Amino acid sequence: MSERNFSSLPYYEVLAQQAEAHIAEHGLKDFDKKDVFAGLSISELSQLVEHMAQTANLEEAYALMALPTQDGKSTYYDRLFGPQHKIAYEGFRKVLARTEIAGSKRAAVAMDVGAGTGENTITLMRLAQKVIAADLSKPMLEVAKHKTDAVNVKAKFPTEVEYRVADVFKLEVEPASVDFIIDNGFLTYLSPMEIHLYWQKVSEWLKPKGRYYTFDKAQPKVGFFDTTLRAQLAGLSVELLLQLSHQMGQFSYPPRYEAAEEYGFAGWKLHRLQEKPFKAGVVQWTKN
Ligand SMILES: C[S@@+](CC[C@H](N)C(=O)[O-])C[C@H]1O[C@@H](n2cnc3c(N)ncnc32)[C@H](O)[C@@H]1O
Repeated sequence: MSERNFSSLPYYEVLAQQAEAHIAEHGLKDFDKKDVFAGLSISELSQLVEHMAQTANLEEAYALMALPTQDGKSTYYDRLFGPQHKIAYEGFRKVLARTEIAGSKRAAVAMDVGAGTGENTITLMRLAQKVIAADLSKPMLEVAKHKTDAVNVKAKFPTEVEYRVADVFKLEVEPASVDFIIDNGFLTYLSPMEIHLYWQKVSEWLKPKGRYYTFDKAQPKVGFFDTTLRAQLAGLSVELLLQLSHQMGQFSYPPRYEAAEEYGFAGWKLHRLQEKPFKAGVVQWTKN
């Protein structure tokens, strides 16, 4: 995984084609830059995008994203992805509050795959006695640790958080040991075949009747960073892609829909908690 660079990920070609088709059909419109830039200056953003484009792999890119912005209070990741992921963080909070139990009956072990800077890990701390937060990026998990050590939820729920820096495909987890697994903004990084392999691992790690929740959005509006970086890597200019990312919102990633349809979840029960799985909300599967 770490040997792969961005351009080997499957969606850049698709992205460039989508951008081209979108411009041909709609042209480009003006937009309010405040919405797109999440409060960062254009020079700060341009610099970041330039640096991102030079990174060779996901670890390097996320090491950059974990750096604090000039205000020193938040990371680039939280500043740029925070507003974009709000819908996901809230979605997980709501769905998990309905389906998992907090307090004395909470699950023994939960797992946050591709945990990043830990926003969802904090949610899981309320719902499990132990949380495994796994991510390829050490700097991202260091930010998460900083947050989970500080939050008062720790005082409320004495939750053990185990941080695992690893590529998910090399992660060793005891079979049938986890009550529920979540991922957010993670399937995006996997090819259809990798999604399939990952789901096999999820299935292996979960206890019988274990739950798996996933979210990967095609969210309207901002969607700045993901879209921006990818568009640039697909060979578009910074100005153009800023405009496009605003106009189109997130680009869609056909590979993961294909993976869901092609491989499905044989023997799993799908709870369609939202009308449009993958596009609009948290989706839950339960292992038989
Ligand atoms: C868009 S971020 C999502 C972070 C977090 N889940 C959230 O909701 O904010 C994607 C994360 O997946 C991690 N990641 C990507 N590929 C991975 C892999 N193969 N194994 C483990 N983590 C990976 C990245 O390092 C990054 O932190």
